Amino acid sequence: MAQPAQDLDALLREAESAIAAADSQQALNEARARFLGKKGSVSAVLRGIGGLDGEARARVGKDVNRVKGAIEAAVTARREGLASSARDRDLAEHRLDVTLPASAPRAGRLHPVSRMEAELCRYFQQLGYDVEDGPEVETDHNNFGALNFPEDHPARDLQDTFFVEGGHVLRTHTSNVQIRAMTGKQPPFRFIAPGRVFRHDLDATHFPMFHQMEAVCVGESVSFADLKGSLCGFARYLFGDDVKMRFRAHYFPFTEPSAEMDVWWQGRWLEIMGSGMIHPRVLANCGIDPERWQGFAFGFSIDRPAMIRFGVPNIRQLFEGDVRILEQL
Ligand code: DAH
Repeated sequence: MAQPAQDLDALLREAESAIAAADSQQALNEARARFLGKKGSVSAVLRGIGGLDGEARARVGKDVNRVKGAIEAAVTARREGLASSARDRDLAEHRLDVTLPASAPRAGRLHPVSRMEAELCRYFQQLGYDVEDGPEVETDHNNFGALNFPEDHPARDLQDTFFVEGGHVLRTHTSNVQIRAMTGKQPPFRFIAPGRVFRHDLDATHFPMFHQMEAVCVGESVSFADLKGSLCGFARYLFGDDVKMRFRAHYFPFTEPSAEMDVWWQGRWLEIMGSGMIHPRVLANCGIDPERWQGFAFGFSIDRPAMIRFGVPNIRQLFEGDVRILEQL
């Protein structure tokens, strides 16, 4: 019969090297089972001592317990070793230097045109104007017909219209909201209508999509003097109290009389808006009695004052969405 004590020491060395070789908790569990499990080698030695005499059985029993304890201790030590090296690896991989300066978050902000639009809305709301809205795809009637553009009149082409299927157009101006907002409304009222408009046009100051604001005021005794006063006040608000301005007689189908307004800006006259007394036929087209009510209207680009305010020389820079440029505005 083999010497159990020698067997046990060999077993212990075998177990220790298996435990040392285990490179994961899973491998370690398997190594432990191989020696200490029910079908493990140490259990087999234990089963074998039944045939020994009393003294030998006690000696070998003690030896088995010593070896079992040693293997158990080696397993525990290895288990801790594996856990801490996994932790070390984790820490090394996700090293965090809390003394580094934080990077500043990149905050979003409103587009210059949105800011200008919001500011102009506030200006007119303080004067008692409501804010009205209208669609960008519009009927020919609301964009032209009801605004007194004659059928087949070249004025429709003058505005470089984008035509859409089904007889619709991309609105060429925010004046379409005059028709939408005035129809079914009883004067007196005043409102503005900001929004996108579209025309076939492209150079340093024109873009196929741009922004306008329309202003309308209708009442019982609204006069051209009221229009002039409103425009002068608005130009002073935009360009400063001592801005030089002038009115030029002009033609719009939807106003009579009509005028364009210029301001003296950086050494030249800059046209900033169209205006006039709302044509009686336009009022009538909206169900408003022109014998009783009169009103003025004006319309202007929101982009132009935004370009001046934010120092943008080319209108494309407003709309191409280049973050490097927008961040400087
Ligand atoms: N709709 C005109 C345009 O886009 C601007 C305009 C002129 C609006 C006179 C008005 C107005 O309300 O009275 O060129």
